[in-house]
Amino acid sequence: MIEIDIYKGIPIEEVPWKRETPHKILVDTIEQLISSPAHLLDLGCGLGHNAAYFSARGFEISGIDISETAINYTNKLFKERNLKGNFFELDLCKLLALPKHSYDLAYDIEVLHHIFPSNRDTYLRNVSDLLKAKSYYLSICFSEEDINFGGEGKFRDTSIGTKLYFSSKEELQKLMSKYFEVIEIKEIELEGNPSPHQAIFCLMQKM
Ligand SMILES: C[S@@+](CC[C@H](N)C(=O)[O-])C[C@H]1O[C@@H](n2cnc3c(N)ncnc32)[C@H](O)[C@@H]1O
Repeated sequence: MIEIDIYKGIPIEEVPWKRETPHKILVDTIEQLISSPAHLLDLGCGLGHNAAYFSARGFEISGIDISETAINYTNKLFKERNLKGNFFELDLCKLLALPKHSYDLAYDIEVLHHIFPSNRDTYLRNVSDLLKAKSYYLSICFSEEDINFGGEGKFRDTSIGTKLYFSSKEELQKLMSKYFEVIEIKEIELEGNPSPHQAIFCLMQKM
């Protein structure tokens, strides 16, 4: 099951992943790989704070999210801050009518655990199609090694009524290798609300 708009019913201020400042590992990794004015793609851009950070640093930025609430919020944020960006309300697990080979780097942070295994091939094919040759793709999602969040096992229920899929490093290595060259894959700790998350960091390059 894919939740269409996980923001419906939660006041924006209480969205657990809402943070004004991007995770340091996201910024450090991207800024070491590429410099502005490259075109970045934020997959599952949420409320747009990560995208706003990169836009303010001079990157061209686009974002995709399945949630109308998230896209409206992001557009409002960009308008208020006088930033430029293109945001699309689309399901990344469906065929996308967007121009291919357009982006220099794509990232998804805390998104892939919303994408269940049956949808992951379509999702990754979309990501690969959108990227230019040799472009980078960084994915950070929850790990099944996490012992704090939602119990244990692969499928876990959250306090906001969503069901997430927790991955292992081995399964992501195998899955991602079908579409990308995996440059680095590792377990990391990601700051979280109310406690840190165990996550998998996977840096890839389009072949
Ligand atoms: C936990 S939030 C993370 C948002 C953002 N990346 C951040 O770090 O703040 C996950 C986001 O993925 C989006 N999402 C989930 N499934 C999606 C899909 N199939 N296509 C596009 N976006 C999706 C959700 O709407 C939500 O905004």
